[in-house]
Amino acid sequence: MWDEKYSAPNYIYGTKPNEFLTQNFNLLPKGKILCLAEGEGRNAVFLAKQGYSVTAVDGSAVGLQKARKWAEENQVSIEFIHADLADYELGEAKWDGIVSIFCHLPVNIRRALHQKVVTSLKQDGVMLLEAYTPDQLNYKTGGPTTADMTMNTVQLTEELNGLQFTLIQEIERDVVEGTHHTGTGAVIQVIAKKP
Ligand SMILES: C[S@@+](CC[C@H](N)C(=O)[O-])C[C@H]1O[C@@H](n2cnc3c(N)ncnc32)[C@H](O)[C@@H]1O
Repeated sequence: MWDEKYSAPNYIYGTKPNEFLTQNFNLLPKGKILCLAEGEGRNAVFLAKQGYSVTAVDGSAVGLQKARKWAEENQVSIEFIHADLADYELGEAKWDGIVSIFCHLPVNIRRALHQKVVTSLKQDGVMLLEAYTPDQLNYKTGGPTTADMTMNTVQLTEELNGLQFTLIQEIERDVVEGTHHTGTGAVIQVIAKKP
C-alpha cells in the first residue's frame, strides 16, 4: 500500500519538516536520532541539516528511495533502513532521541514498538511524537481511516511508561503537510524524556 502511495512523482507529505518537530527539535540532545516510519525523508533531512546523526527506518522501499534522493539533494548523510517496525530491533540505551511523526501501526505492533522505544533511549534521551487521535476520523483531512490505527493520551501514557512526559496533549491544528495531510486535524503531541 505505501509503495503505491509513494509512487506519486511528488513528495506526498511535502519536503518541509513536520511543524511540531520544527518547533521542538531543539529539545533533542545532540547525537544519534532515530526517525520511525520516516517515509520520504523530510524530517530526517531536516534533523541532519541541524547537525544530528540520523537513522531513518521505514517499511516502504519506494518511500526510502525518495528519501535518499532528498538527502542527496540536501547534501546530508543519513542511515536509511528498510524494515518492518513489527520486528525491527531498536537496541538498548542507544538513541539520544527518537522521532515518531504520523507513525500509525496496528495497536499490538505499536505497543511493542513503544516498549522498545523506552528501552532503546539513552538516559536523558527524548522522544518527540505527533500522530492523529480517533477524533481525526471526523475531519477526513488525512491519516488512518480506522480508529484502531490512531492513538490517545491514555494509550500513550501507558505504552510509554518509563518516560517522563514534558508534554502530552491532544489538540486540533492545521496540518498542511504535502498533498495527503490537508487541513484541520486532531493530533496528539508528546515530548517525553528517559529519566
Ligand atoms: C503517514 S506516513 C508518515 C511518513 C513520515 N513520518 C512523515 O511524516 O512524512 C506513515 C509511514 O509509516 C510507514 N509504515 C507503515 N507501517 C509500517 C511498518 N509496519 N513498518 C515500517 N514502516 C511502516 C509507511 O511506509 C509510511 O512511510
